[in-house]
Amino acid sequence: MKSKGRFNSEWISSLKSAISLVEIVGENVELRKTGNRFMGRCPFHGDRSPSFSVNPEFYYCFGCKETGDAISFQMKLHGLSFEEACEDLAEKAKIPLPEGASLTSEEERALYLKRQRVQKAARLNYFASLNFYHQNLVRGSGSPMFEEAREYLKKRGITTATIEKFQVGVAGPGYEGLTRFLMDAKAPLDLARDFGLIRASQKQAGDYDFFRERLLFPLIDLRGRVTGFGGRIMPSADARSQEVKLPKYLNSAESELFQKSKFLYGLYQAKLAIRETELAIVVEGYFDVISLHQAGIENAVAPCGTSLTEDHLKTLGRLAKRIIVFFDQDEAGITATQKSMELALKGGMLLYGIRFESKLDPDEFLLEDPKGNLEKLKTWIEGARPLLDTSIERIFAESETDLEARSQAIKTAVGWLKSFNDPVGRSVRVSQLIERWKVPREALGALAPDSASGRPMNQPPRNVRPAQVPSQGNGRRRGPMPPSDRHLLQFFVKFGNYGKLFLLARQEMHEKNTLSDLFDDTEVRQWVKTLSEDPTGIQRLAHAPESVIPGEVSQELRSVIMEGLLQEAVPGEEQVLNGLLKRAVFKAWVRFSHELKAEMVAADSRQDIEKFKELSEQFLDLQRKLKEFEDSYVSGKTD
Ligand code: UTP
Ligand code: MN
Repeated sequence: MKSKGRFNSEWISSLKSAISLVEIVGENVELRKTGNRFMGRCPFHGDRSPSFSVNPEFYYCFGCKETGDAISFQMKLHGLSFEEACEDLAEKAKIPLPEGASLTSEEERALYLKRQRVQKAARLNYFASLNFYHQNLVRGSGSPMFEEAREYLKKRGITTATIEKFQVGVAGPGYEGLTRFLMDAKAPLDLARDFGLIRASQKQAGDYDFFRERLLFPLIDLRGRVTGFGGRIMPSADARSQEVKLPKYLNSAESELFQKSKFLYGLYQAKLAIRETELAIVVEGYFDVISLHQAGIENAVAPCGTSLTEDHLKTLGRLAKRIIVFFDQDEAGITATQKSMELALKGGMLLYGIRFESKLDPDEFLLEDPKGNLEKLKTWIEGARPLLDTSIERIFAESETDLEARSQAIKTAVGWLKSFNDPVGRSVRVSQLIERWKVPREALGALAPDSASGRPMNQPPRNVRPAQVPSQGNGRRRGPMPPSDRHLLQFFVKFGNYGKLFLLARQEMHEKNTLSDLFDDTEVRQWVKTLSEDPTGIQRLAHAPESVIPGEVSQELRSVIMEGLLQEAVPGEEQVLNGLLKRAVFKAWVRFSHELKAEMVAADSRQDIEKFKELSEQFLDLQRKLKEFEDSYVSGKTD
């Protein structure tokens, strides 16, 4: 295996042997043991029946054909780079990252040190979150504010289980609670300063706590790292500070670890529910997220006080098929909803909206009538519709009688559709404008269906929405793989079980032949040839198949290989294989005899009598051999 970036192949294999793929997958997918492998519902596509198979070496989905090892699982599931995935796995397995000494350039070394620092900062945040802020809330007695926080959350209907799930904490009023705590623990204060937990004091020596008198929500990213905190002002502190109004919410400063424009609160806790329901619900605030989760709507997330960005949409698009925007129904919320919808259209994505008939925010709404309102909410979520469609309907319905308003509505709708980067989705809506809303064709400009081709618009489709299907297997095949090759190949990939039979067959062929000559199909022959020429190829096939299946092989070849690796032995299959091999050897000899014949013709035409004689003797021998072969094959003798 090639070394990738700063990790060399030895380190990668030691990493892989220190972790259990079944365990890693099991953290995210419910697995059930069947035979010698585990099956579960594929986390990479909306899988209704369990088609995701995991064995100690690799995973493979019979549905979407996604396959790989623990590292690629981590990468795909969490959207990580190779290095990030390795870092996370190393941390899980408690094996040290490779020494910086193996780094070649200065830049690589600098980058390495920087990443080490970021990882350390995340651990420090986690430490502060769990051992300080969360402890304060759960059982702290050092300040009356801790008790106030417990009471406040109770009043808002937040349960202990929810507090645990989201690791909610509280910062008291003192200036040096956390600072002291970190000093006592001999934690690296420079990191705490750089990543926003404490600040250097201007007036005197020493540091002071950044968060004070706030409920704290740790900001946990998809990898489970605590990237920072969102802090809500405690009611008593808010009441005291009438003249200098403190901000209601305060987030950690932006850092290498925390970027508002990318971060979604609750995503770590919502990830699995989002995949399962194929739906993500975006709400406005921290309390909305935790209240919805508590009510059993566990696919809710929120940006941290920003509107939705392209990065947010990309992240969610990777996990969910549908995204519902469920912002407050005030002016700010409605504007933000429309902005998000417009941004998504450019990416060829539709956002969904619900009919939320309340002025309350989701959290207050649930608290108002926990049972009844939850039922209402669920019904509304079921009935979610694309915001684009409800918005078009709204502006047209509102301009029934006013011509000026109608022309404005047409311009707005045309603008949305022009920017909608999905040709099919766009054209069905253009037709609707014409038929339902009687928009004159002239008003559609470039959107008007071109009567010659019937195709609206110009823009080529740009695949902005991340593909659900793996990008592997683009290689094209000329025709389907012959069934005999397919069958034989599925035995071949289990070389460990049947290697001896294959090697025996190989000995029965001409000495010039190789294992690949047992197959007819060009692509299969090429793959088997490359694999058998690689000294560790066959061994790696069983343990790390993705390392010997190049990205450009056809989807068909890839699935035949993977499915072969997963098939369990069936009694009597050795006999089947013997039959297949015999036939394959026979075909190899036939192929060889064609080659011999061609050589004879060539020798004859250059009047090389000696050579011709030699070849024709060989040819006759071969014909006899083939006859014998055929007889035994036809009579069914398989010895
Ligand atoms: P809201 O003011 O609606 O607060 O802000 P909320 O979430 O409903 O909180 P409660 O229920 O009053 O306690 C919505 C979101 O906007 C961001 C926060 O992310 C908040 O959750 N925000 C709000 C800030 O970043 N800073 C602020 O000062 C206020
Ligand atoms: Mn609220």
